[in-house]
Amino acid sequence: MLLLIDTDPGVDDALAILMAHAHAEVLGLTIAAGNVGLAQTTANALKLVEVIGADTPVFPGCAAPLVHAPVADAAFIHGRDGFGDVGWPPATRKAENEHASLAMLRLTREHPHAITLVCIGPLTNLAVALKLDPRLPQRVARLVIMGGAVTGRGNYESVPVEFNIGFDPEAACVVFEAFPQFDLVDWEATTRHGIDHALLGQWFERGDERARFFEAISGHARAANLARGRAGLMAADALAMAVALQPELVTRAETRHVAVEMAGRLTRGATVVDWNGMLGRPANARIVMEADRARFEAMVAAALGGPG
Ligand code: BDR
Ligand code: CA
Repeated sequence: MLLLIDTDPGVDDALAILMAHAHAEVLGLTIAAGNVGLAQTTANALKLVEVIGADTPVFPGCAAPLVHAPVADAAFIHGRDGFGDVGWPPATRKAENEHASLAMLRLTREHPHAITLVCIGPLTNLAVALKLDPRLPQRVARLVIMGGAVTGRGNYESVPVEFNIGFDPEAACVVFEAFPQFDLVDWEATTRHGIDHALLGQWFERGDERARFFEAISGHARAANLARGRAGLMAADALAMAVALQPELVTRAETRHVAVEMAGRLTRGATVVDWNGMLGRPANARIVMEADRARFEAMVAAALGGPG
């Protein structure tokens, strides 16, 4: 399987990227601003690739949302540097000169119908790529998006909104309208598949240097999740990556039309689902409701270098 990952690392992005490298071929990481600023998310991606020992190219992309300044970043979960503020030395390797959106266009031309595109950050880079070349969806084998809160239980600045969509609603709207079909792993599915802290501790003990790195960078996020009384570590991007890597891991899904609210007074960035098919519009999203937890956990454990 060929993967192209659009990401804003980020702790759960890091876990997803570790999983991707353990289980598939990764053509590149295209980088967005989101959890923290673009310079930092790019630096984090480079560091992660170095820790993995891969030569995956890292393409920096858009430094800001398409239209409006973001309401907030997610440093309160991921740390000010996005990787838990543990002070790892920066990677020695450098990012590519090619812009993320252009890399998306080129790589999908070089590998038509072969790439699974996994978007685990705000959708700015993909929206720009779509504006440059509206035929892009025809060249992508599959699109998996981590984003949204399909019944309105979000995690961003207004109640019904999830971070990746709320950070850049215009970009999300462009993407949701351009792709006829995609898998959507939303925040609510994430909360149903939290990773147990004790289990994570066992994987840290049994794993290799990837486990040690992830243990260090995830400390801040684990504490933040515990402080919020959440059921385990919320690893949204890791769950999305598991769905990308093993589509059959999904045990329950609902296929519906999903649109993005851009103007709501209280709901800007909400993912609006036509649950009852009232609009007669094509169902663009396969919304993941449940995934096989054991298989998800086994994939995470393997990505940290240890048995499940
Ligand atoms: C999403 O927001 C980010 O903080 C995470 O990395 C994930 O992509 C979850 O809402
Ligand atoms: Ca992310």
